Amino acid sequence: MTVIKVLSIILGLFALWQVLIRVFRKLFHFPAPAFIGSFLDSNYRRKLQPPEKIIQRSGIRKGTRVLEVGCGSGAYTTFVARAVGREGRVYALDIQPEMLQQLESKLARPENEDIRNVELVNSSAYELPFDDDSLDLVYMVTVLQEIPDRSKALQQVRRVLKPGGILSVTEWLPDPDYPWKSTTIKIGREAGLVLDEAPGNFWHYTVRFRKPQNSSWALPDTG
Ligand SMILES: C[S@@+](CC[C@H](N)C(=O)[O-])C[C@H]1O[C@@H](n2cnc3c(N)ncnc32)[C@H](O)[C@@H]1O
Repeated sequence: MTVIKVLSIILGLFALWQVLIRVFRKLFHFPAPAFIGSFLDSNYRRKLQPPEKIIQRSGIRKGTRVLEVGCGSGAYTTFVARAVGREGRVYALDIQPEMLQQLESKLARPENEDIRNVELVNSSAYELPFDDDSLDLVYMVTVLQEIPDRSKALQQVRRVLKPGGILSVTEWLPDPDYPWKSTTIKIGREAGLVLDEAPGNFWHYTVRFRKPQNSSWALPDTG
């Protein structure tokens, strides 16, 4: 009985926290502050949201040229860098220089000296500094809902992806901006991307889209 009581209290507090933080985020919209960088890049979090799962669900492979939009402090960047290997490349992009500084420090640690294929890019998702049709894969982990104009950001993603290239969007329930899977699918489709697969559950899912072959990068005419 006591165990049930404790579990109910924990669940109740989690639900209350989720309601309060979501209301707060609706009222005050800003990028995740850089001081939470060490929480984001923690082994505790990676136990709940394992990098191997994100890599496998996103279709990241050896030799892939990857853009990580909203890399933050780099919780997943080093794992992806090793997954794409020497023939691949990771462009780790974030709007906040303070987040990129944390990733830079992480890459400078002795245990990461084997990683030479990561390039840090300080830019907004609205202005991706890459050529049209130039990247194999773009991924975002708990980022898309943080971007106020998601359609504008996905137009850019669609522009820089090669025809047939992948966009993978991963979401995680404790994130205050967490959306339903159906919402993520709708946003991607509205940006002219084709749904490939959406593995995972309510707690942690990835939606994988493809840029259509023979695609011009302009948004479809919905008028
Ligand atoms: C919740 S954090 C997630 C960071 C990382 N993906 C992770 O899972 O640890 C969201 C990140 O997206 C970045 N971000 C928010 N809006 C952005 C935008 N418009 N362009 C580029 N990055 C953005 C924030 O600066 C922040 O580092």
